[in-house]
Amino acid sequence: MSKPAVVAHGGAGPGPMRQDNLEKAVEKAANILRLGGNALEAAVEACVILEDDPVFNAGTGSVIRTDGSVLTDASIQTGDGRIGFVIAMEETPNPIRVAADLLDEEINGLTSAGARLWADQRGHLRADVEGRLPEGQIGDLDAEITGDTIGVIARDSSGMIVVATSTGGCSFRPPGRVGDVPLPGSGFWAEDGLAVAATGIGEAITRALLSNRVYERIKNKNTSLEDSMEWGINTLIPPEHSVGLIALGPTGPGIGVANTDMPWATWEASSSD
Ligand code: GLY
Repeated sequence: MSKPAVVAHGGAGPGPMRQDNLEKAVEKAANILRLGGNALEAAVEACVILEDDPVFNAGTGSVIRTDGSVLTDASIQTGDGRIGFVIAMEETPNPIRVAADLLDEEINGLTSAGARLWADQRGHLRADVEGRLPEGQIGDLDAEITGDTIGVIARDSSGMIVVATSTGGCSFRPPGRVGDVPLPGSGFWAEDGLAVAATGIGEAITRALLSNRVYERIKNKNTSLEDSMEWGINTLIPPEHSVGLIALGPTGPGIGVANTDMPWATWEASSSD
């Protein structure tokens, strides 16, 4: 029997104050877990709260790309080895629900028009996503990640762990660009009772295979979540790139570490829950 827990982040980089909004999503996941819900349900529903809140660069609040389009990415992985991700979805305010629907399919990931067609066939919401204009200037590395990405990791009483992430992509990116969020090992990794999720400049995260390498370090070097995340950011990411990580293991609360602003919050069940 494990103690249920959740950790979530509201994106790397400067932007609107997001801590209170983030805590609402953590509370949603905590309520699901308190009532005996599983980690998959908790992670997805917390993600949906963040996708529906326009202060975050995900779902409804996704940043508009250089051609004026709004395209959403999301990914999900379970500790028992299932994976689902979607890339560059049009008219999809909740891509995490589509990604979650792939978990029990032979296909792991879908992209663009094919992803939207599959989502339509499965009855997923199709709706205009207005998005918002990026702040700042091209080449300003802080502006590129203004309120970048959301991520949630949940653990349920069976010890199952689930990581879910969602984004509209970094600012000033063209429509065909793929960031870290839908790439396994880059923006997220979960195996057995341990998971890691990343936020920030997707190109730097992808080149470092950041989430998987931090996961491997925690697991194989027996270091703390915090030490391994600091190692990952300080040694695998060039200092000019803003990046943050969250992680949750088989016991204890989650942790967040970043080399920039990153709202994060955690909850772990107590004896009064
Ligand atoms: N980290 C989000 C992205 O690079 O798209």
